Amino acid sequence: MNDNLNLNIDVMDETHREFLEILLKIQSSTGSEFVSLFEDMINHTKEHFAFEEDLMIKYNFYAKQEHLEEHENLLGEMNYFYEKSKKSPIFAKSYINEYAYEKFKRHIINIDSQLAMFLKEKM
Ligand SMILES: [Fe+2]
Ligand SMILES: [Fe+2]
Repeated sequence: MNDNLNLNIDVMDETHREFLEILLKIQSSTGSEFVSLFEDMINHTKEHFAFEEDLMIKYNFYAKQEHLEEHENLLGEMNYFYEKSKKSPIFAKSYINEYAYEKFKRHIINIDSQLAMFLKEKM
């Protein structure tokens, strides 16, 4: 997780750092701690996405629809694995350990970066 994911919009970068902190904690957790951290990650992600969506609406971001759909997909996937984690922790563990970081990294690099560039001219 040593990639530089900074977008140079402090409020966005701070949220992304928090997300990575939670993800690191889950990766080394087990049992009920795993499930409760997974819940924390979902709640954090809901707030994270809602915050970006408010910014997109406020500043009338041109690629809002595409970004919103990406958020929905990511959150849907996260919820799917969270539900799975109750019955099949191994399945959810592999999402957390092998998949979640890449997914988020790609979202930040491909999608959030467009928003950050746009916001730099508006804020
Ligand atoms: Fe983001
Ligand atoms: Fe985003």
